[in-house]
Amino acid sequence: MPMEILKTVQVMQKKAHEFIRQGLKIGLVPTMGFLHEGHIELMRVTRKETDKLIVSIFVNPAQFGPDEDFDKYPRDSEGDIKKAQLAGVDVLFMPTADEMYQGDYQTTVHLDKVTRGLCAISRPGHFDGVTTVVAKLFNITMPHTAVFGRKDYQQLAVISRMVKDLNMDIRIIGVDTVREPDGLAMSSRNKYLNPDERKSALCLKKSLDLANRMFEKGERDAALIKQAVNDLIREYPFTRIEYINLCHPSTLEDINTLGDETILALAVYVGKTRLIDNCLIK
Ligand code: PAJ
Repeated sequence: MPMEILKTVQVMQKKAHEFIRQGLKIGLVPTMGFLHEGHIELMRVTRKETDKLIVSIFVNPAQFGPDEDFDKYPRDSEGDIKKAQLAGVDVLFMPTADEMYQGDYQTTVHLDKVTRGLCAISRPGHFDGVTTVVAKLFNITMPHTAVFGRKDYQQLAVISRMVKDLNMDIRIIGVDTVREPDGLAMSSRNKYLNPDERKSALCLKKSLDLANRMFEKGERDAALIKQAVNDLIREYPFTRIEYINLCHPSTLEDINTLGDETILALAVYVGKTRLIDNCLIK
């Protein structure tokens, strides 16, 4: 079956109903496009788990702050269509902003505690934009399973919480971060890095590795691990740390002493580009 490209909510919903009537399980991978191997991996996982793979491409204005990169966010519809076809996507849903937020739009999905720390501090309103659009995409594509990357760890935690709190009958799967051969987490925003910044960007993965080594050698003091990570990142030129956080995997609350499972999450500017990365320390 050739891939279908759908642009309106109505037609997408009709298609989803059709799949459901046929007893087919729908899998959704929401994206903002400029597809890379990380996105493709989510599609592979979804295809294995479901009968019909829907991928959405929508650069969601509601999740960008006024000083953020909405206008210059990389876009490549033609390239994305080819990549989606190769990945075996059944339906590519590519709505316009007017189609998604029609007329007198006034509803927001807001979560409380999980959206207070980490990325939310520098990006107020960001997660409201994410949860609102993801809830809309769920209603439009009616998935049985939706797949998200662990690279955006807080996003995955927030969406998992939303699905639970609002009793959405959708299974959420998290997929490990796909990296470049040298360790840099793949991201559409890596395109912004110049060659020197690209070298410095390796400090994120290096510091995750350092923290894991410290844990393996018995270190449990969060302050000491944070200090070591801070020192390592600061050795790399063009870097500015936004946060280094050790937190609980699902509540995202800060922890002082590492237990069985801890998330180390980082946000670091390299030049003007804001990069995030994280790992589970256990
Ligand atoms: P986007 O940044 O395009 O990412 C789409 C999905 O790909 C997210 O689930 C993200 O975590 C995952 N992803 C990105 N880089 C990855 C990598 N290197 N390895 C594995 N997965 C990776 O995240 C968004 O879009 C938006 O906020 C969205 C959820 C679509 C809502 O607008």
